[in-house]
Amino acid sequence: MTALPNNSYQKGMLKKQIQLILYELYFFAQKDVMIGLSTKQKRGNKMKIAISSDHGGNNLRKEIIQQLEELGLSYKDFGPQTNDSVDYPDYAAPVTEGVASGEYDRGILICGTGIGMSIAANKMKGIRCALVHDVFSAKATRCHNDSNVLAMGERVIGPGLAREIVATWLAQEFEGGRHERRIEKISALEK
Ligand code: RB5
Repeated sequence: MTALPNNSYQKGMLKKQIQLILYELYFFAQKDVMIGLSTKQKRGNKMKIAISSDHGGNNLRKEIIQQLEELGLSYKDFGPQTNDSVDYPDYAAPVTEGVASGEYDRGILICGTGIGMSIAANKMKGIRCALVHDVFSAKATRCHNDSNVLAMGERVIGPGLAREIVATWLAQEFEGGRHERRIEKISALEK
């Protein structure tokens, strides 16, 4: 049996090794999420995604569209097609209308902070838009809130984290159960 470290140098080395293993496990799990999604798609998952941004989210929107293409997912890009300054509610509208009507399964909205887009999106009946800037929340909002629109801020997070958030959010199923009752209570607030 390996002896436990008995000085601070050995303890530090052990801590570093454990951190390295946890780091590798984390990336392995993330890779699985993405591979899981593309495998599902190959099996005939017909998830349709609507995406838009304002000028503050143009670059990140292009990055996420690239990711959707890599994953082989079906999407509709609602622009904008130039870098001119635009008003985010105008670009939230077609995405949220498309998701609320059932034409699209999920929506992705990007602006500078993600805040304006999420406020606008949540005005639309039937939309549960989550503003997400970490992977834990991306998973939790699908499990617990059955969020159908994801908002992110290009000026808040980098493209690598945004891609992980999108992969997690698209792959995660709603848990249902007690969360179903809470979703129904949100819908009742719309009446
Ligand atoms: C545009 O400058 C900026 O206000 C918008 O992208 C967004 O951050 C609003 O919430």
